[in-house]
Amino acid sequence: MRLREDFSAWRCALASGAAAAAVVAVAGAVDEKPTEEYAGAMRALDTAARGLAEALEARDHATMNEHVIDARPAIELVQQYWREREAAGDEDVEEAVEAIRAVSKSVSEISVAVHLMTLSPNPVAVDGAELALGNMRAACAACHAAHRVEQPDGSYLIR
Ligand code: HEC
Repeated sequence: MRLREDFSAWRCALASGAAAAAVVAVAGAVDEKPTEEYAGAMRALDTAARGLAEALEARDHATMNEHVIDARPAIELVQQYWREREAAGDEDVEEAVEAIRAVSKSVSEISVAVHLMTLSPNPVAVDGAELALGNMRAACAACHAAHRVEQPDGSYLIR
């Protein structure tokens, strides 16, 4: 019965040229309000990303290290959220899982660069950290484009 309803909704939508909307409706996807923990993790990542860029500019490896440490639990929480959705059979999460994995990898690379920078002024490590920071920013943006929905009041939902 459900299938038949979905099928006719699908056909109807195709007929009206709203196929993309129908896919979302059939999958039952609803934008959801983030938990306080999720939103807090995002703000922590934001602080870390900005702080890392500033500290890198200043070649301040001690402060970079603090931001690496602060980013880790936030990454953990976000990773957990998307893995749970994936485990629950949500089919639309591949990009998000990949994006947070890329953030995690970038932070690990920055952590290695920080270690090298504590040993000596190391231009190669600085370049590596810059590259990793760029990759991290790209991963933030990729996930936001796919999964962050801005509300008229400026707050966000998770798609
Ligand atoms: C796996 C997907 C994903 C990744 C990766 C991701 N975000 Fe987000 N982000 C979201 C979603 C979904 C929201 C909307 C829900 C919310 O506001 O918490 C969001 C919201 C935000 C917000 C608004 C928080 C608020 O006040 O509600 C900020 C700031 C933010 N992200 C920064 C970042 C930064 C910086 C990075 C990269 C270091 C990043 N995000 C990586 C999915 C992601």
